[in-house]
Amino acid sequence: MTKLIAIDGPAGVGKSSVGKAIAKKFDINFFSTGEMYRCLAWKVLSQNIDPQDESAVIKIAKQVKWEYKAQDNVLRVYIDGVCPLDKIHNEEVGRAASKVSAIPDARTIIMDEQKKLAVAGNIVLEGRDIGTQIAPFAKVKIYLIASAKARAARRVKQLKEAGQNPVYEDILASIISRDERDSNRKIAPLKPAEDACIIDTSDLNLEEVINKVLEVASKNEW
Ligand code: DC
Repeated sequence: MTKLIAIDGPAGVGKSSVGKAIAKKFDINFFSTGEMYRCLAWKVLSQNIDPQDESAVIKIAKQVKWEYKAQDNVLRVYIDGVCPLDKIHNEEVGRAASKVSAIPDARTIIMDEQKKLAVAGNIVLEGRDIGTQIAPFAKVKIYLIASAKARAARRVKQLKEAGQNPVYEDILASIISRDERDSNRKIAPLKPAEDACIIDTSDLNLEEVINKVLEVASKNEW
């Protein structure tokens, strides 16, 4: 029996940290679907293309080749043979990823790729539309929420730990505008599946969230 866990929620809510821990626990792979939108956005920006230029973005989305390699319970994504992990986790690429992800034809191409991963199973898929679009058949669907302020504070802490010097107000504004765009786009907007278990992480630490997810998973037959 294959295992499939869907973890959705807004930016900065802790989906990756939770998802990685859960994947380790079950010895399956964790996959961040947002990294595919970030990779596409990075490719678009590196060719000096405006991420809102729909036809140019769609053209690139049609051309790129996706590959995946598992390492320590994490599935790494490769775009045209490159895994640009160190270049995609910054605010500029995040903003552009949100824009390219709202272009319907580009989004469909990436969603079709992600659906294959869901069908193959033995994976924790983390994103915005896993429970609703990519894997509506998943038995375990988690939707994490936290106030924008709590998420901004966590992000500031993370960036400081990474040696950067973030401004809290800027991060908060960026989180709010990303939520707005992700929730209001026409195709696959950010929202919980009807059968998702919603967990508010504002006042929980990582271990407490992991335990709650494990509790939900243990109630399900795979
Ligand atoms: O999770 P993330 O911050 O790495 O995602 C980057 C952007 O990609 C996010 O603003 C919205 C988009 N995204 C999406 O539309 N659907 C997903 N399943 C994952 C991410």
